Amino acid sequence: AIYFVDGQFTEKENLKISVEDRGYYFGDGVYEVIKVYEGELFTAEEHLNRLVESAMKIKLTIPFTQQQLFGIAKKLVQDNQIGTGHVYMQVTRGVAPRIHQFPDPTVAPVVIAYAVNNPRPEKAIGNGVPVKSVADVRWLRCDIKSLNLLGNVLAKQEAFEAGCTEAVLHRDGVVTEGSSSNLFGVKDGKVYTHPANNLILNGITRQVVLKLCREQGIQVEETPFTLDEAFAMDEFFLTSTTSEITPITSIDGRPIGTGKPGAFTVDLQKAFATQFP
Ligand code: PDD
Repeated sequence: AIYFVDGQFTEKENLKISVEDRGYYFGDGVYEVIKVYEGELFTAEEHLNRLVESAMKIKLTIPFTQQQLFGIAKKLVQDNQIGTGHVYMQVTRGVAPRIHQFPDPTVAPVVIAYAVNNPRPEKAIGNGVPVKSVADVRWLRCDIKSLNLLGNVLAKQEAFEAGCTEAVLHRDGVVTEGSSSNLFGVKDGKVYTHPANNLILNGITRQVVLKLCREQGIQVEETPFTLDEAFAMDEFFLTSTTSEITPITSIDGRPIGTGKPGAFTVDLQKAFATQFP
C-alpha cells in the first residue's frame, strides 16, 4: 500500500514515524475520514474544510493548501486502486522533545494520509443496530475533530461489551452524539438532532442528511432532546462517513418504534444513495 508521509508517497513498509511525534505523545493533532465510492471521493471539499477548521481551532497551520490535500487524497485512491473505501488524513503538531507547550515554530506539522478498501456495512445499514446509553464525559470542544479520542474509545468499548454497535452519549440525560457518529430521532414525521455547537462534531453526513430533509420539506429541529425522549421516538438512526445512515433498533435493550428499521429512515437512506455513484 502507498502511504503519504512527510511530503512523500511511500510504501507502507518504508515509512518512518518518530516516537517524538506529538500525535503519539499528546494526541496533539486533527484528522479526517473521507468516503470513497467507486473510486470517487465523496464530499471531499467539506471534509477538507473541516480539517482546516479543526487545525485552526488548535492553532495548527497545515503546510498544504486544500487543493494540495485533495490532490494527495486523489492520488492515494488511484495508486492504491480503491473502489469503495476511505481516505484517512491526519496532521500533528510535529516532532519535538516531550514538553506540553507548543514546540518552536520551526517544527513542521506532520501530515500523513492513506487510502483503504472498505466495503459499505450493508448488514448494519439494512437491519439496524442496537445501541447503549453512555455518559458523555468528554471535554467541551467536541466540535474539533481531534486525535484525542479516549472518551470516544471508552464509550465505544462500553457499548461493544454490552453487545451494542454504538454508544448514545448523553450529558446529564441530554443526548449529544454517538462515539463516532451523529444521532437523529424521528417523532410524528419531524426530525430531531443535537445542534452543531461545541458539544458535538458537526458531521458531514449529518449535514447531507439535514440538506436532504429540508429539500423534501421535512421539518428538522436542531434542538437537544433527552434520553427519555429518545426512548419515545418513532425512529432513531445514526450517521457517519463509514456508517452512512444506520437505523437504530434499540437503546439499552428497549426497542425503538417497531424494533425494526422504520419507513422514514429507509426513505432517507434511498435519498442518500442518490448522492454518490
Ligand atoms: N467519525 N461524531 C463523532 C464523534 C465522530 O467521530 C464522527 C465521525 C461523526 C460523524 O461525522 P462524519 O459524518 O463527518 O463522518 C460524529 C469518523 C468516521 C471516525 O472517527 O472514524
